Amino acid sequence: MKTFKTSIAFIIAIGLIGVTLVQFAYSQEKTGKTIFEDAKCTACHGVASQGIEAKKKSDKNPDLSKLTEGHDADFFIKYLKKEETLNSKKHPVAFKGSDEDLKTMVDWFIQISKE
Ligand code: HEC
Repeated sequence: MKTFKTSIAFIIAIGLIGVTLVQFAYSQEKTGKTIFEDAKCTACHGVASQGIEAKKKSDKNPDLSKLTEGHDADFFIKYLKKEETLNSKKHPVAFKGSDEDLKTMVDWFIQISKE
């Protein structure tokens, strides 16, 4: 009986380690680019410098290879939560993911804007 309990505990431990590893691998794959694509932002925006095309081309939706100058990450984070305005307008949609993902994505935009 003792060995049986030990085996069960062993199997549970291996299972937990497996789940943690999968979660770790998944979290490692999330980048500004994948967050942007998963959030369906490409419905309106392309990022030409990164080879991302907009699904719906329109002159109203800016390409995001270079963000408007003179604003920092904090501004764009607020802008994408519809708490700030750009050209006296709020962004048409709010970002629906986590604050952490929003920051990763905005940092990525700032990074590629400099390239
Ligand atoms: C329905 C279309 C639409 C969708 C979907 C959309 N946007 Fe926008 N976005 C716009 C428009 C239009 C503007 C320009 C607004 C303006 O200039 O007043 C804009 C502006 C921006 C800007 C500022 C660009 C600059 O010039 O500095 C950023 C950053 C941005 N969007 C990011 C995103 C992200 C991230 C997503 C996905 C969560 C997204 N957008 C989804 C239409 C859209």
